[in-house]
Amino acid sequence: MLVKYLVPALAAFGSAAAQAGTCTVSGGTTTVNSQAEATKLASCRTVRGSVVLGKQTGAAIDISGPQQITGDLRVEDNGDLETLSSSTLTSVGGAFVLKNVTKINAINFSKLTSVRALQWQSLSLLSSITLGPLSSADEVTISDTVLQSLEGIDLTNVKKFNINNNRRLQQFSSKLATLDEELIIQANGIGLGLTVDLPNLVWAANMAIANVTKFSVPSLKVVNGSARFDSNFFESFSAPNLTHTEKGDISFVGNAALNNLTFPRLTVIGGGLLVANNTALDEINAFSKLERVGGAIKLRGNFTEVEFPALNTVEGAVDISSTADIRDTCEELSKFAPANQGGDGTIAGVFSCTANNANANDDIDGDTSDSGNIDGKDDENSAAGMAFNSALLGLVAVAGFAAAL
Ligand SMILES: *[C@@H]1O[C@H](CO)[C@@H](O)[C@H](O)[C@H]1NC(C)=O
Ligand SMILES: *[C@@H]1O[C@H](CO)[C@@H](O)[C@H](O)[C@H]1NC(C)=O
Ligand SMILES: *[C@@H]1O[C@H](CO)[C@@H](O)[C@H](O)[C@H]1NC(C)=O
Ligand SMILES: *[C@@H]1O[C@H](CO)[C@@H](O)[C@H](O)[C@H]1NC(C)=O
Ligand SMILES: *[C@@H]1O[C@H](CO)[C@@H](O)[C@H](O)[C@H]1NC(C)=O
Ligand SMILES: *[C@@H]1O[C@H](CO)[C@@H](O)[C@H](O)[C@H]1NC(C)=O
Ligand SMILES: *[C@@H]1O[C@H](CO)[C@@H](O)[C@H](O)[C@H]1NC(C)=O
Ligand SMILES: *[C@@H]1O[C@H](CO)[C@@H](O)[C@H](O)[C@H]1NC(C)=O
Repeated sequence: MLVKYLVPALAAFGSAAAQAGTCTVSGGTTTVNSQAEATKLASCRTVRGSVVLGKQTGAAIDISGPQQITGDLRVEDNGDLETLSSSTLTSVGGAFVLKNVTKINAINFSKLTSVRALQWQSLSLLSSITLGPLSSADEVTISDTVLQSLEGIDLTNVKKFNINNNRRLQQFSSKLATLDEELIIQANGIGLGLTVDLPNLVWAANMAIANVTKFSVPSLKVVNGSARFDSNFFESFSAPNLTHTEKGDISFVGNAALNNLTFPRLTVIGGGLLVANNTALDEINAFSKLERVGGAIKLRGNFTEVEFPALNTVEGAVDISSTADIRDTCEELSKFAPANQGGDGTIAGVFSCTANNANANDDIDGDTSDSGNIDGKDDENSAAGMAFNSALLGLVAVAGFAAAL
């Protein structure tokens, strides 16, 4: 396909004068199917419009010359391209998209500092990137590459950051300070795990973190939405400076090695709290300052003890169940039950607490809107089992918790 663009008079003459040229792409898109076609852009300092590489371009394309592309730079479903570079490009006004470019192994945009969105997906041989470094982007997705490092991506703020299925990526550290929409980190460093260090992160809208061996957020103060940690490999997790979540939930599900969870400053969870199927977690005592939970609390696991020493309001239900004998914990926490269950009303919804429930780890969904009437068929009637729910309320009160009234 022909490269079609309208060039200002000067640009046509090349050389220094042409360097200042703004090339306005007719129809908005320049298609590049060969290096020769890429070279035609060399005299454009600014390309107004998008540059799209075709599906068959040959192995190497260098787009040096332009400093700016105002639209997108896109390569999709290209099985030829092995290297893509530009020694001059500093900004892409739209999206820099590389999708299903199966042979690309190196990207070198040594001056590129700004893009609106970086969307790199299904680049299964990509092992080397050089960027300006990139210091400005609204969105970054890096998925299915063999990158070992994301050096070169050096953002302090981003709206969306999604790093998934990069199977050789074992380490990610970033000076990221604020995150407006979401951070998703999942299925990286296969077999090895990914360690994540975000020393400067102060607030983040939402986080979904899975399959990491370490997640360090020493400065994190606020999660505006939700933070969710699933199937991670870490033994220890701490958010030492987190004071509250504004609206969303905190959840830890299926983190098999987790044995030490600490939120020493957390006072408010705007949404709910879900801690489930973290089978090595013996005690849920992470929430020493937690006063208020805007949603429900649901705890499931093999823990022997649960402590909420500062709790004064839970808007939703509290539903606790363990494989272990937590009858003492259930008794202790029943003082927070709603008045109609004999407690002091700290908990607005139904209070339910079950000990010796062999299936405690099976019911781990985040639906915390249940009535709290846990089906006690496994153990409610056994000597060891005991459930604190509406049905047993009378028994609870009789058992000596009337004082809590
Ligand atoms: C990926 O691109 C190749 C061409 O290189 C194409 O044959 C294949 O169908 C594309 N895969 C997807 C999932 O689009
Ligand atoms: C990237 O390109 C720059 C400028 O063209 C060059 O100096 C550098 O060596 C290249 N880096 C790699 C890793 O190829
Ligand atoms: C998140 O909370 C922080 C601290 O309260 C606030 O400064 C920031 O604007 C909030 N961000 C979003 C996206 O709501
Ligand atoms: C990675 O995490 C997901 C949950 O997001 C889980 O389904 C998957 O099994 C985990 N993989 C490994 C290897 O832990
Ligand atoms: C934790 O918060 C305190 C109080 O706001 C602050 O002085 C301290 O620097 C924070 N620590 C980190 C590592 O950000
Ligand atoms: C749990 O983690 C916290 C914070 O990282 C640490 O101070 C504490 O020593 C750990 N506790 C145990 C028993 O390892
Ligand atoms: C958790 O409890 C279940 C059910 O009793 C048990 O099968 C499992 O081995 C326990 N896991 C750990 C790590 O204790
Ligand atoms: C609980 O976590 C273990 C891994 O620790 C996993 O094998 C199991 O499928 C999880 N249970 C549920 C119900 O998801």
